[in-house]
Amino acid sequence: MMVWTSSMESGIRSIDDEHKHLVDFSNIVRNASESQRARLCDRKLLNSLHILFRNICEKEEDLMFRIDYPNVDKHMIEHSSIMSRLDMIILNFEQTGDSTPMVDFIHDWINTHLKAADTSLASFIQKRKQDNAQSAAQAPKKTRPEAGRQS
Ligand SMILES: [Fe+2]
Ligand SMILES: [Fe+2]
Repeated sequence: MMVWTSSMESGIRSIDDEHKHLVDFSNIVRNASESQRARLCDRKLLNSLHILFRNICEKEEDLMFRIDYPNVDKHMIEHSSIMSRLDMIILNFEQTGDSTPMVDFIHDWINTHLKAADTSLASFIQKRKQDNAQSAAQAPKKTRPEAGRQS
């Protein structure tokens, strides 16, 4: 059972919601019996998973460029290998009907990407927010310029 923790949060609502969705989904699939799982993991579900993963990766990549994230290249390489692996799994499922690789895939994604690369990105964002708040608090107060006087 995977539990969502605040350290996994990026602070970007749409990304966090999709990550949580995947964690919940992983728990459902892992707790399902083999026959329940076979019913659950159909082609339609794998296609929606593919769309969900692609959306998450694209949103994170846009965000990383926007905030000038230093590890953007490494993170993007991980995304592209995640997407290639998912493509293979969908192909394999179509040929064999075996859902086990998909379960392993989501489990690995949580343990190797979400808990590492995504969590590093989340802490970078959280630190950036704190730094911005701190420098705003320390900035000298500006006084409002006097309204132009007519002479
Ligand atoms: Fe990511
Ligand atoms: Fe992610």
